[in-house]
Amino acid sequence: MVDFTLTDEQKNLREVAHDFAEKEMRPVAWEYDRDSVWPENVIKKAWEVGLMNNHIPEEYGGVGLGYLDGCVIEEELAWGCSGIQTSVGCNGLATAPLILGGSHELKKEYLGRLTEAPLLASFCLTEPDAGSDVSGMKTTAVKKGDKWVINGSKCFITNGSHANFYTVYAKTDKDAGHRGISAFIVPRDAGVVVDKKEDKMGQRASNTATISFNDVEIPADHLIGEENKGFKLAMMTLDRTRPGVAAMATGIARAAMEFAIDYSKERVQFGVPIAMHQAIQFIIADMATEVEASRLLTWKAAFQLDNGERNTLVSSHAKRFAADTAMRVATDAVQVYGGYGFIKEYPVEKLMRDAKIMQLYEGTAQIQRLVIARETLLPRRAETPAAATA
Ligand code: CAA
Repeated sequence: MVDFTLTDEQKNLREVAHDFAEKEMRPVAWEYDRDSVWPENVIKKAWEVGLMNNHIPEEYGGVGLGYLDGCVIEEELAWGCSGIQTSVGCNGLATAPLILGGSHELKKEYLGRLTEAPLLASFCLTEPDAGSDVSGMKTTAVKKGDKWVINGSKCFITNGSHANFYTVYAKTDKDAGHRGISAFIVPRDAGVVVDKKEDKMGQRASNTATISFNDVEIPADHLIGEENKGFKLAMMTLDRTRPGVAAMATGIARAAMEFAIDYSKERVQFGVPIAMHQAIQFIIADMATEVEASRLLTWKAAFQLDNGERNTLVSSHAKRFAADTAMRVATDAVQVYGGYGFIKEYPVEKLMRDAKIMQLYEGTAQIQRLVIARETLLPRRAETPAAATA
């Protein structure tokens, strides 16, 4: 039977995450956003209380939480501040390919680094000329003896300025399109150059950087999985991480809705709190429905993964719907605040700026629709995750 009840453990995780969001993130969120402050102190605390890296299997020093567990945590932390959460949660994205396809030795070394100290890793797929079109990447990796030599540039890299190591996708066969891409672990001290930190519209506390590789040499065994199988590894990674983005979008939407509800009960116009006006009630009603629906799609996408099923379609449903919901709800929250919503002194304009990135990163709203259309019009063979890497 279908059951939407969280286990006691999941309820406890939610409580711990909510408490952290309320006490450690909210008090600094608006200031860090305004000044674009790197939230190193919050990241350290999140690591100490066990709210980072919880996807890492026990064998490699982690606690091996499931995808639904992760989504429950991510919604709460994004409710606190989605900018800080983008940096806190990025290790999950960066290490997903390693967990999926890496050798035991590579996992031991690099997952171990993250569980032993509050270090960060980055996921490097996007390039200046290859965003949605992953196969168009130009970064190359050439085998020379017992080394790979990497050249190229990656942009929009979360935590790029601060990462200890990078999961990098590069062409290993320039003429083979998506079948000529491989994935690698590149330690920062191999010579990764941070070119610039972006000055962003929203999520200003998270770090987003352009980085480059100029004849960066890494050991041959730093290839993740098989040569030329990197594209599928990237797609399978995004299937696993998009539910987390959807959970974050749900957290932003919920935060915006809560602010709108509180404000609508305080703000008096025409002699009554504006919550008494049907025009406002209908806005709040739509917010409540869409937040609920976002969470349900998110949980379904995560549940499928926990159940060993391929979740490509539902993952894109969740990411697309929750991201669009975050944008709509945050925009409507500004509407409920009226002119005050447009002023930085009030909380909701930050949420509107933060929500925008949810429709852009980890696959734009249009890419999600492309995946949904393909999976709906021409469903792929039902594969288990293990079969898809073969
Ligand atoms: N799982 C397993 N295999 C998959 C798959 C999946 N979900 N999706 C596709 N594949 C396989 C296909 O079966 C096909 O296999 P064969 O080689 O055997 O034929 C192969 O991959 C190619 O598939 P497509 O023909 O569908 O590939 P495409 O070139 O048309 O691209 C796409 C598809 C959906 C547009 C994809 O390129 C995509 O998702 N683009 C968006 C990229 C993205 O999300 N970037 C975000 C970067 S991360 C980030 O933002 C984080 C940050 O730090 C800011």
